[in-house]
Amino acid sequence: MLKTKVTEMLGIEHPIIGGTMMWISKGEFVASISEAGALGVLASAIYQSRAEFRDELQKVKSLTSKPFSVNINMFPSMRPIDNNDYIDILLDEGVRIVETSGHQAPTEYLPRLKEAGCLCIHKCVGVKYAKKVAALGEDIVTVVGYENGGASGNLGIGSFVLIPAVVDALDIPVIGGGGVADGRGLYSMLALGAEGVIMGTRLLLSEECPIHNDLKAALLEAKETDTKLVMKSINAVHRVWDNEAARKTLELEAKGGQLNDLLQYIGGEKAKIMYDEGKLDAGIVATGQCIGLINEILPMKDLIAGVVKEAEAVRDKLAKI
Ligand SMILES: Cc1cc2nc3c(=O)[nH]c(=O)nc-3n(C[C@H](O)[C@H](O)[C@H](O)COP(=O)(O)O)c2cc1C
Repeated sequence: MLKTKVTEMLGIEHPIIGGTMMWISKGEFVASISEAGALGVLASAIYQSRAEFRDELQKVKSLTSKPFSVNINMFPSMRPIDNNDYIDILLDEGVRIVETSGHQAPTEYLPRLKEAGCLCIHKCVGVKYAKKVAALGEDIVTVVGYENGGASGNLGIGSFVLIPAVVDALDIPVIGGGGVADGRGLYSMLALGAEGVIMGTRLLLSEECPIHNDLKAALLEAKETDTKLVMKSINAVHRVWDNEAARKTLELEAKGGQLNDLLQYIGGEKAKIMYDEGKLDAGIVATGQCIGLINEILPMKDLIAGVVKEAEAVRDKLAKI
């Protein structure tokens, strides 16, 4: 067992958070993560109406009685409904762990969530942002290093430096991520001072992950060198799988292409086509460098149990040094 402040605060068995993933972190997938003893995080932004979101929350509750969380997405996007609408519903459905992520601090939502008794986690990519949201009253801050899949920020600081820097700067618990795919990564994060880890890329290659099998097979072949950083020109750097769409995006950016030009590759609905239909070059898919460490697709329970078992073995091995 690996008991930390984060497992205590969240009431979970293992110090592992399943990173929220747009179009992917839906009810069944989220419940499978929570059932495995980690924390599943539902991506509210997937749901186009209040009714759909409420149905999905009820689905998660019917599938697991273990803790789960909801992500409130503050990245610039064509949001179908206001974040306050998602918050109305999640509070009404009894959710009390809320994660926010995005380019700004959650100043607008935090007072309301805290007043309702929520445990609030904000995810960001730098010391300055972590300090800002801790001062606002977050309970936990998640930081992910430059290796991570998805939004990477402009700072370019890897997990090995970012996590201890944030741990030193804050007096609240930190969840660390970016590059964690196995027990070695989990135990290293704890050694760096984090009280838990967030994993996104690793969970893409679980049996329960609702993406097309052809995409899973392609990602299984990918190495640590098979990612690209795109969207720097529009101030929204993302680490993605190195496919044709990623390369075309970079070409367009080099030629001075604007958001409207880039959308043919980076639009969220393109990723959805990849996930649903297995069209490998339809768009871009967020993927971290740790894709190169993943050698098998596993059922979620075995995946999480394996990561924890390996971390415990690392701990025991190191104790003998
Ligand atoms: C396919 C994919 C989609 C993601 N979508 C989101 C998202 O919508 N919102 C968000 O805050 N983070 C998103 N992330 C980031 C993860 O939640 C997590 O922070 C990240 O994957 C951790 O780094 P790792 O990939 O190295 O494990 C996504 C990651 C992946 C791989």
